[in-house]
Amino acid sequence: MKYFIHTYGCQMNIHDSEKIAGILESMGYTVCDKAEDADIIVFNTCCIRETAEQKIYGHIGLVKKLKREKPELITVVCGCMSQQEGVAAKIRESYPFVDIVLGTGNLNLLQDAIVAAQKKRKFVDVNFMQYKEEDFLTSRTSYPNAWVNINYGCNNFCTYCIVPYVRGRERSRRSEDIIAEVRNLLSEGYKEITLLGQNVNSYGHDLDSDISFAQLLHKLGAMPGKFRLRFMTSHPKDLSQDVIDAIAEYPNICDNIHLPVQSGSTEILRKMNRHYTRDDYFAIVDKIRAKLPDVGITTDIMVGFPGETEQDFEDTLDLVRKVKFSSAFCFVYSRRKGTPAYSMEQIPYAVKKKRITELIACQNEVTKQISQYMVGKQYEVLVEGENFHYKNTMCGRTESGRLVNFQCDPSRIGEFVTVKIERASSATLWGSIVTEEK
Ligand code: 5AD
Ligand code: SF4
Repeated sequence: MKYFIHTYGCQMNIHDSEKIAGILESMGYTVCDKAEDADIIVFNTCCIRETAEQKIYGHIGLVKKLKREKPELITVVCGCMSQQEGVAAKIRESYPFVDIVLGTGNLNLLQDAIVAAQKKRKFVDVNFMQYKEEDFLTSRTSYPNAWVNINYGCNNFCTYCIVPYVRGRERSRRSEDIIAEVRNLLSEGYKEITLLGQNVNSYGHDLDSDISFAQLLHKLGAMPGKFRLRFMTSHPKDLSQDVIDAIAEYPNICDNIHLPVQSGSTEILRKMNRHYTRDDYFAIVDKIRAKLPDVGITTDIMVGFPGETEQDFEDTLDLVRKVKFSSAFCFVYSRRKGTPAYSMEQIPYAVKKKRITELIACQNEVTKQISQYMVGKQYEVLVEGENFHYKNTMCGRTESGRLVNFQCDPSRIGEFVTVKIERASSATLWGSIVTEEK
């Protein structure tokens, strides 16, 4: 019996898919490369933007034909999209060949749901009950990196964002459980741990034990051995000095912060309910760079939020030029039903399109400058895997998070090496290994 998982969206979903794989493998399923060969197909969905949703509905539609050819095929839709109001009913009506619909908080029901589906019973449950991470055996797919959830959900309610509605309120895992999981992963040979949370900086606020994110970083950063610790995502309003100090104190914690700015206009930030101004953001960046001069700061930026004027957009471009992000994920604002921004006055698509093109070009120019600065210098890189776009080429990241391509044997995945950067084509860096470290 074989399984195939379609994963859409963020790292949180990639890691959830590893848990789904763990459940399926414990039931005797093995992974396959093509949906056509599978006995169970899982769609682990995303609904952060409308484009993601449309694509997913298209892909689910394709299963109809497979199901006709193989009636015992089981189809599961889970993740953020199925947690949205009305979606479970829509799937039931328009995609009757889907057997199981589960929300974001009840993956623990997957096994029972599959048993029901095998008996030809539909299973739909998007109740917001919450599972415990410790309930699952995870089948990890990203060696030498391992994802570790530290908190779930979000309390921020940025006015454009659907996440608080589909992932629920903030819930932190017990620090003892996180520490035990990281210790196990390191003893299994993982070399990079990425802590995941919608807002890692508010870790611990909801726990009885008095532990902050900075204190958690101290406990993890002090673990013995050579490894890398990263975390995402940080909300600028909550990034504290003691977190910056912890990054500086432990060599194992990477000088790399993902700090979504969303907009460079104070007025738009206010309408977004972000709780910081443009100047606050500059001040945070200065605070970080004062302590971590080689830090790589990455970000998320949106254009076309309701009411964004030409001047607001210019402010965003200006911020991008000044901050010099090592990379930026640039998005066109997408109207999400149920969010406050849905009922604000929207911007024409043509304007959004023009702005996103300009924003991407602006960030590309910044990235190119940083890349050129890196040429000729040496960086420690973790060999992470093959770059399938180029023959015989491996890739890995610098501590600051920049991806580098170089030649080496695939058997060296998981090793730390020193790479000299030889050339750069805008966002892509090319180099070769100069010395070897244990
Ligand atoms: N439209 C476009 N982008 C969005 N994001 C969140 N909600 C929306 C939306 N409605 C972006 C934000 C966030 C990232 C994960 O996705 O930039 O940081
Ligand atoms: Fe969405 Fe804002 Fe929460 Fe991030 S902090 S998940 S953008 S509501």
